[in-house]
Amino acid sequence: MKIAGVQFKPKFGKTENNIKKVLDIIDSVETDVIIFPELCLSGYFFLSRNEVDKISLDFRSDEINELQKKSTSQNKIVIFGFAEKSGDKLFNSSAILFPDKKLSTVYRKIHLFYKERFCFDKGEKPFFVIEDKSKDITIGPMICYDWRFPEASRSLALLGADLIVCPSNLVTAVWHKVMPARAIENKVYFAVINRIGTEKRNNEELFFNGESVIYGYNGEILAKAGVEDEKIIHAEIFPELTRKKSFNEFNDIFSDRRPYMYNL
Ligand code: ACM
Repeated sequence: MKIAGVQFKPKFGKTENNIKKVLDIIDSVETDVIIFPELCLSGYFFLSRNEVDKISLDFRSDEINELQKKSTSQNKIVIFGFAEKSGDKLFNSSAILFPDKKLSTVYRKIHLFYKERFCFDKGEKPFFVIEDKSKDITIGPMICYDWRFPEASRSLALLGADLIVCPSNLVTAVWHKVMPARAIENKVYFAVINRIGTEKRNNEELFFNGESVIYGYNGEILAKAGVEDEKIIHAEIFPELTRKKSFNEFNDIFSDRRPYMYNL
């Protein structure tokens, strides 16, 4: 199975433009799964709920449906971040679109970063995974700052994720030390797909530092982009290899767990 991560610079507030770019890239890349960054249909640095409200999209909107149709016609699993409006709630969400529309769903970011708390509601649906039987893969979604919580990856792995996808807009580089460990301790593939570029609002500038990575389940780097380059990274993965959690004849990282000792 082939997966691809798209590192690029969304244009803040230019939804139509960003969607066109995402649609064109989906067309042009030969892959089974394609992952784009967090909030890539809108840009990142919102300052108020009012701003988000104006640009956010319902998961059942025509715009998202156009991306769904592309997923189906191209037979690709498509994952991207967008500002979601659901009734009077606003979420920092990822769409996980499957060729079979019935499987398509939305993950709402559980841990909000920095000024997101002034703009979005916290996701209230616990971590979940989606199995696509026809492609024989189970995908576990999280978004960016969720990485700081090892419980996020652990929850997804215990639910059966083969591949954790983490659309991101990262502004630090410390995650590089941690994410390979999340892949190893859970024996899962892990794709952190970041954006590049800067956004300046009210004299505050955020620099998004790229370096998107796809990790193998032993924590090895399968593909990596640079700090500033617009780039599509590719890897071949074998989801079934993540499902046996033993690493010698006596140890299994899941059945050796002793949750009642952990005081969580
Ligand atoms: C982040 O959650 N965008 C760092």
